[in-house]
Amino acid sequence: MTIDEIKKQLGWAGLQYIRPFTIVGVGTGSTVSHFMDALATSKHQIKGAISSSEMSSIKLKSLDIPLFNLNDVSSVDIYIDSADEINSQMQMIKGGGGALTREKIIAAVAKKFICIVDSSKKVEILGTFPLPIEVIPMARSWVTKEMLRLGGIPEYRKGITTDNGNIILDVKNLRISNPIELEETINNIPGVVTVGLFARRSADIALIGSQYGIQTVIKKT
Ligand code: 5RP
Repeated sequence: MTIDEIKKQLGWAGLQYIRPFTIVGVGTGSTVSHFMDALATSKHQIKGAISSSEMSSIKLKSLDIPLFNLNDVSSVDIYIDSADEINSQMQMIKGGGGALTREKIIAAVAKKFICIVDSSKKVEILGTFPLPIEVIPMARSWVTKEMLRLGGIPEYRKGITTDNGNIILDVKNLRISNPIELEETINNIPGVVTVGLFARRSADIALIGSQYGIQTVIKKT
């Protein structure tokens, strides 16, 4: 089975968590793209979707899935998204697709976060995947220096402006042994909009796909 076939199975597996008359938060990326195809088959049963990126909005519109503005809904029942890395505590690195800020907002609002990932994303310690940070453009050099001070090696993601008009730094060389602490530290650097560490708000359920099938992991409370 190819990685894309595994991602497709994960996308369709996400559908089992969708309840009628609910608002569904939709992430960004190639795995979620399959979920959107699956969601389109149930579009008449749900109220609609909240999108985490312009890219996902385009696809949701093309599938005729009603789109809502987050400010116009009282709650988001479920958020389905993927990740770049996930650990056993369901903490994640996200933002490989550059949509981390809106993803983090929807994850915070949603009652339940289901992460759909292929097993290559499973790690013991977060940090092999470069940590994306969305930064206000004028703070690029300052945040770069602060990340060097924290032991990271930041790289400017060239040619990318986020949906919010900002830039992204991808930070290598981090072995993230305390994700909540690092998330707070980076959040406190002026100029940082969002760090792609989803540690405080981790996933509630992970569907982990491989050629052997899909494993469902529920967060211990
Ligand atoms: C986008 C993300 C994605 O969830 C992450 O990059 C995984 O993407 P894919 O499903 O294409 O492997 O965080 O900002």
